[in-house]
Amino acid sequence: MTTIAIDGPAAAGKGTLSRRIAEEYGFHHLDTGLTYRATAKALLDRGLPLDDEAVAANVARTLDLGGLDRSVLSAHEIGEAASKIAIMPAVRRALVEAQREFAGRKPGTVLDGRDIGTVVCPDAAVKLYVTASADVRARRRYNEIVANGGMADYDAVYKDVRRRDERDMGRADSPLRPADNAHLLDTSEMSIEAAFSAAKSIIDAVLKH
Ligand code: C5P
Repeated sequence: MTTIAIDGPAAAGKGTLSRRIAEEYGFHHLDTGLTYRATAKALLDRGLPLDDEAVAANVARTLDLGGLDRSVLSAHEIGEAASKIAIMPAVRRALVEAQREFAGRKPGTVLDGRDIGTVVCPDAAVKLYVTASADVRARRRYNEIVANGGMADYDAVYKDVRRRDERDMGRADSPLRPADNAHLLDTSEMSIEAAFSAAKSIIDAVLKH
């Protein structure tokens, strides 16, 4: 049973990369960001507060990993709300438990998020830390919004990316940082294809041993 842990900041391209890797190796994939997003959305839908740890943790404990729908959960406001409840230790404990259970699926799993290599799966066979400059990440997110027919302001998108970084890296519980034995992959100058083949080379080299 093999686990591949993929961490990195918002809009670094981890999602696409993780899905491709899972497909390549025939592994199950969990985007753990969706677990934080689904918890936040359930609170918003029920008109519950985003700053009550006990309430949020109760919702997190009832989360069904089978019902995570990326198209519904990708909204910007849900991401913002997710990063607010993600600072709460009781919420993290509930979601990490579900994520660890998922990580045990056969024949193997790919989990992507912020704390997979450091907290959720510290014994993962391969750890990747995928990053890109804030400017490149903001540019990619901006292009994605526009390509989907939306309206966006580059400066606002850039500020959002920086604010999310600060919240994710600055929190006390499970801050975003590369695990000591993570392989760093800076995709600032890479296409998706190039990032995929770089990741595959790293994974193949590790799994061969
Ligand atoms: O990756 P995504 O943007 O969907 O994640 C939404 C938010 O959920 C992140 O900004 C982060 O605060 C939180 N998150 C986390 N730990 C993870 C995955 C996501 O704290 N493993």
